[in-house]
Amino acid sequence: MPFKPRVFSGMQPTGNLHLGNYLGALTRWVEMQSTHECIYCIVDMHALTQGFDPDGLRQATRDVTAAYLAAGLDAKKSIIFNQSQVSAHAELGWVFNCVARLGWLDRMTQFKEKAGKDREAASVGLYAYPTLMAADILVYRATHVPVGEDQKQHLELSRDIAQKFNNDFKKEILAAGFADGIFFPQPDPVITGPATRVMSLRDGTKKMSKSDPSDLSRINLTDDADTIAKKIQKAKTDADGIPSEKKGFEGRAEAENLVGIYAALTDITVESVLKDFGGQQFSAFKKALAEVATDKLGKIGGEAQRLMADPAEIDKVLADGSARARAIAKPVMDHVKDIVGLLRS
Ligand code: TRP
Repeated sequence: MPFKPRVFSGMQPTGNLHLGNYLGALTRWVEMQSTHECIYCIVDMHALTQGFDPDGLRQATRDVTAAYLAAGLDAKKSIIFNQSQVSAHAELGWVFNCVARLGWLDRMTQFKEKAGKDREAASVGLYAYPTLMAADILVYRATHVPVGEDQKQHLELSRDIAQKFNNDFKKEILAAGFADGIFFPQPDPVITGPATRVMSLRDGTKKMSKSDPSDLSRINLTDDADTIAKKIQKAKTDADGIPSEKKGFEGRAEAENLVGIYAALTDITVESVLKDFGGQQFSAFKKALAEVATDKLGKIGGEAQRLMADPAEIDKVLADGSARARAIAKPVMDHVKDIVGLLRS
């Protein structure tokens, strides 16, 4: 049986969303709303894997929801909710902990990076992060998952889990009435666009990141127009001006990053930006960049600020999204319980 196309994706509520999240993910998520049924999650349970901060988590969950909405996700069209309000994620995550093998998780590079040298001190949750992520996707039997390059390995694990579940329970799946014996789809990663890699404004060799101690290194989706303009003005550059050809970016990560951001924000190619600005000084280019950035992002920042001032309204959006998510996830989880032999009443 072919699966109904359905998009699922999520972000962790750990700090502010920034330009990298916007250009690398959110713009694509917004577009997909007009072609697909979309479910967009704030994965608050994943945020627990790296330590507890109850007030910070509540705040960040609302902030990320506000940024989603301000960036153009439509809570009527799409389902927008926080993971922990739909208990089926945790339930299916547990079943998947028993499907996935230790050897599979041992290969996850993100765990190795995040756990660092002291593996013994990492939480069990951090280790099991990818099985919960598989549950996020498969509890909706989602088929398309827009993610950054860094999540490809987790997506492959989700596919392996879906396949092993389908194989291990073939008989039960058939008995439950799925004539082709396939219960979970193989979710496809949709690796997000050319501007996926937005680098730090202070160091063009590092990704723009919410964990960078310098706020000048990133443009937050909640920054107002003045802040955005100031950060662009202070962005690191070099003594040479804008090159006329792409090969002029050699060894000049900062120049390449700023031109790439301009191209992504105006939706034109890097080549045509170079055609317009090649030979000019950074001061002139930065003025133009600040203009397009404040025009596009200043509005989003303003709208996010407005939404963040009304937490009750945000909580209402999340409650409504959670109810709609539950309506899809519950029957899937009921089938899973029947298939694996968990009694329910
Ligand atoms: N691991 C993802 C990230 O860090 C977040 C995430 C959690 C996710 N569950 C997901 C993304 C399900 C896509 C689908 O970016």
